[in-house]
Amino acid sequence: MKIFSGLSNKSLSEKIAKELGQKLSELDIFIFPDDERRVRVRESVLDLDTVVIESTNKPAEKNYMELFFIVDALKRSGAKTVTAVIPYLGYQRQDHVFRDGEAVSLEVIVRTLEAVGVDKIISFDMHTPRIPELFKIPVIHLSAFSLFAEKIKKIDGKNGILISPDMGGIRRIKILSEFLGGMEYGSIEKNRDLATGHVEAEKITGDVKGKNVYLVDDMISTGGTILTACNLLREKGAKNVYVFATHAVFCKEAPQILKRSRAEKIFVTDTIGIPERNKFENLEILSVAGIVAETLRSK
Ligand code: R5P
Repeated sequence: MKIFSGLSNKSLSEKIAKELGQKLSELDIFIFPDDERRVRVRESVLDLDTVVIESTNKPAEKNYMELFFIVDALKRSGAKTVTAVIPYLGYQRQDHVFRDGEAVSLEVIVRTLEAVGVDKIISFDMHTPRIPELFKIPVIHLSAFSLFAEKIKKIDGKNGILISPDMGGIRRIKILSEFLGGMEYGSIEKNRDLATGHVEAEKITGDVKGKNVYLVDDMISTGGTILTACNLLREKGAKNVYVFATHAVFCKEAPQILKRSRAEKIFVTDTIGIPERNKFENLEILSVAGIVAETLRSK
């Protein structure tokens, strides 16, 4: 098996390769002045199983194009199979029509990944459980929950409650609760204005008073959901709030907003590479490299 990496999250790719006792295989990615890419595989992959690792976060379009070209180059060079490890699958929130006249952007991405010849997808904590069903090729849907559960147990797994910042995340919370031997859980009722993106949260199902609250989400984008949820949880008497989110999308002023939030600590993973300027004191980054390596070893 040979492992190739795109440019979006090379440090994670290097960690995965290291876990597997390998080096990343040689690949040239030349970027023209107008940002177009030229990709060239520099090792023989004839009749070999290959893996390409690329996160498709911002700029999603460029990262997706780069991924498509790497897969095409591998296929043209005779690779037997191409597994695409896409730790964060861009456009996953647009998986159905919310309002009349909208595109199903994720479906377009899925069809293109299949058309360029990807044989299998590996990804983490997708926005809805339905997403793998959009693919005709096999999808291995991994989760960072084992990493979160370990941390929660260390903080204080006894006097705690898991909270989802919106009702849509309740399935996620139930799974994590199972990891934690049936920890109590609840949810905030969040409303987002689709036109402005403004988030409001008013009610919580579950008693948070005097408890350590583990606020769990799939991703942090602008940070608005987490900020609003932390404020509400503190108002309702939560002792400490610890935030857990798999994907650090971190757009706009998210790091500044998170720094201002009333969370003790914010845990994210490295499914998306986080530049130094977006790191802050109470942010802890957990690596998913071991989980990906184990999956590649066994499947
Ligand atoms: C929404 O359904 C997601 O699970 C996240 O809660 C959301 O994408 C976070 O976005 P933001 O950080 O912009 O509030």
